[in-house]
Amino acid sequence: MTDIDDKYTSKPFTLKNKNIVLCVCGSISAYKSADLASKLIQEGANVNVILSNSAQKFVGKATFEAITHNKAILGLWDNNTNMNIDHVALAHEADIIIIYPATANTIGKLAMGVCDTPITNTVLATTAPVIMAPAMDGDMFDSFQTQNNIKILREKKFEIIGPENGRLASGLIGKGRLSESKTILGITRKILGKNGDFQGEKIVITAGGTRQPIDPVRYITNKSSGKMGHFIAEAAIDRGAEVVLITTSNLITPAGAEIIKVDTAESMEKAIISATRDANILIMAAAISDFTPEKISNSKIKKNHDTQINLILKSVNDFSNKIENNITKIFFAAESENLEENAKIKLKSKNADFIVANNIVEKNSGFSYDTNKVTIIDKNGDKTKLPLMHKLRLANKILDKIKITKKDGEK
Ligand SMILES: Cc1cc2nc3c(=O)[nH]c(=O)nc-3n(C[C@H](O)[C@H](O)[C@H](O)COP(=O)(O)O)c2cc1C
Repeated sequence: MTDIDDKYTSKPFTLKNKNIVLCVCGSISAYKSADLASKLIQEGANVNVILSNSAQKFVGKATFEAITHNKAILGLWDNNTNMNIDHVALAHEADIIIIYPATANTIGKLAMGVCDTPITNTVLATTAPVIMAPAMDGDMFDSFQTQNNIKILREKKFEIIGPENGRLASGLIGKGRLSESKTILGITRKILGKNGDFQGEKIVITAGGTRQPIDPVRYITNKSSGKMGHFIAEAAIDRGAEVVLITTSNLITPAGAEIIKVDTAESMEKAIISATRDANILIMAAAISDFTPEKISNSKIKKNHDTQINLILKSVNDFSNKIENNITKIFFAAESENLEENAKIKLKSKNADFIVANNIVEKNSGFSYDTNKVTIIDKNGDKTKLPLMHKLRLANKILDKIKITKKDGEK
């Protein structure tokens, strides 16, 4: 058995050494908190769970203890934990507290400072950030009391996530549904990363393959999945950057990024030019079409043996001269042959600070894989060959290189 964080090609832990207190209240949606506990553990966090008395009617402590390897806290006078010795110890150790789900009852108590449960004691005593995800019947949520209590907690800088619209336990459709655990995980990473080394930087990242229409039903595209760009966005958020992700991909988008969905090369170009106006860094991980159909048919082209679609090499990929000059620019070059030579040509033509050259015919590397093997070449001619690694690790290597490039530029 090995610590999976040691393997280069595995996804790195993003919450390593973080103490997270997960408070679970008595909502029908409490079962989803087990999934959040599992996600936090998989990111390397140390998770302590507090279950309210009502939560214990919905979910059992055994689930959380098996997932977290920590004793769940069930009551203020619980002999299983040290709450009855030091009732605020968890509050002081916590890097972040997550209340998931938060009931109308606990929200009300927290707003008023009532302190009669392990959850309210811990939250009242902490100076750590608090994320709260309410879940309840729509009318309970809309009530004057709940709205007022939420307003008070928002003023106290609680990060309130949701509730979402959707199907509720009552069978009705409305607002009150607990936000997804992946959203809470993303927000947790963003809050814990906000003082990172990219604090104050605005990074525009492109991802995915563009689609050039042929007719109303067909298009030409490429194999880019968007994974590389999405992992760079995640890593940049983890390090405190403000991120704009311009993407064609259907992958889950990272919580905490501004997302701009595009499809054609032209729409991507427009979005990049606009988003980079006040940005410091541009990372072009998208695969933008080099070719586009000469003509777009307004009607579906009929099946015909003689049908020909003429592609032209359009300058859709040639807008780098329209981007702010003082911005740090990183391009990707996906090549199947003469990797370094072609990458160097692109580096120069795009006036990039460095280029990430990607051999797409290499095993487990390039489009759609979670791993990638690249060579980074900068404008001074320095070359770094990196081994096959998880794209999130590579994303952090690229960000490290940006830091060095910016420092060198300041000298
Ligand atoms: C079946 C059932 C489902 C409930 N679901 C919710 C809910 O989704 N949200 C909520 O605020 N209260 C819900 N309640 C009410 C709370 O469990 C109740 O207000 C309780 O006092 C909350 O205690 P706690 O905040 O300490 O967990 C539900 C109650 C029952 C019996």
